[in-house]
Amino acid sequence: MMNFFNNCTALITGASSGLGEEFCHQLAPHASQLVLVARRNDRLESLATHLRNLHPALDVRVFAADLTLPDRRHALADWLNDEDINVDFLVNNAGLGDHGHFDSSDWDRVQNMLDLNITSLTHLTHLLVQGMIVNGRAAILNVSSVAGFFPLPQMAVYSATKAYVTSFSEALAMELRPKGITVTALCPGPVPTEFFETATRPGDEDKASHFQTVPAFVVSPQEAVRAGLEAVVRERARVVPGPLLAAAVAVALMVPFCIIRRILAIRSAKL
Ligand SMILES: NC(=O)c1ccc[n+]([C@@H]2O[C@H](COP(=O)([O-])OP(=O)(O)OC[C@H]3O[C@@H](n4cnc5c(N)ncnc54)[C@H](OP(=O)(O)O)[C@@H]3O)[C@@H](O)[C@H]2O)c1
Repeated sequence: MMNFFNNCTALITGASSGLGEEFCHQLAPHASQLVLVARRNDRLESLATHLRNLHPALDVRVFAADLTLPDRRHALADWLNDEDINVDFLVNNAGLGDHGHFDSSDWDRVQNMLDLNITSLTHLTHLLVQGMIVNGRAAILNVSSVAGFFPLPQMAVYSATKAYVTSFSEALAMELRPKGITVTALCPGPVPTEFFETATRPGDEDKASHFQTVPAFVVSPQEAVRAGLEAVVRERARVVPGPLLAAAVAVALMVPFCIIRRILAIRSAKL
């Protein structure tokens, strides 16, 4: 199945940790070229060295960038052009959360989240999609979240950004399929990565229980990434990794929204 990715050139955002790093590991045995993007250059370089040692035929490139900055996104696209790198698999994975009430949120954190989860993902897709269409067969994988299906109190902005990512991906999948490009939204539930640490507000570190996760819904980064890549191969517009969570989401989406709203409000009052 993973033959689909043979000789591809994949660009992975947020490659310095968590799911992004795992995408690199799973794609490395198949791809001919990987482009690793995130802010932490030291992490990207050590991952690149590790991958080059494991897969000598693989061409691994690193581009350190804060993707919330439009200039850096343009610089990335220009650099790809100058280096003659034709991306045929774009993994828009970089993203972050902010946990807590909206009225007490720090605006800079909120702005950063909107810029990264929505604007950067959309802009990068816009910058690369024309080239992908010219290349012929290509794929885009946008990392969304189950949070995008439900308006989660205390994750209000994050949920809304992921609702955007899923909706954008679904519409784009329909637009681009006739042009030879598949678009998939990967919608994980809880995955143990640095995400929770990043989403915790300064001063809230001791509130260990503030993220309520159902242990049965937790999947490993390996499982989440595998599910995403398999969904790309199957040309699925969206996938929820983990059979239990996928079933729970499917059922919840059939429940009238007024009931979901009541459940979420009760859960929120207990937090
Ligand atoms: N973990 C979960 O439970 C979970 C569940 C559902 C969805 N997701 C989604 O999965 C994706 C990956 O998150 P993760 O769980 O792997 O968390 P993570 O380990 O915190 O990874 C986030 C990645 O985004 C990069 N990033 C953050 N700000 C950036 C910026 N301004 N410019 C460029 N890159 C930036 C980080 O790299 P640098 O800091 O080096 O820039 C890092 O590589 C996110 O979109 C997240 O919303 C996660």
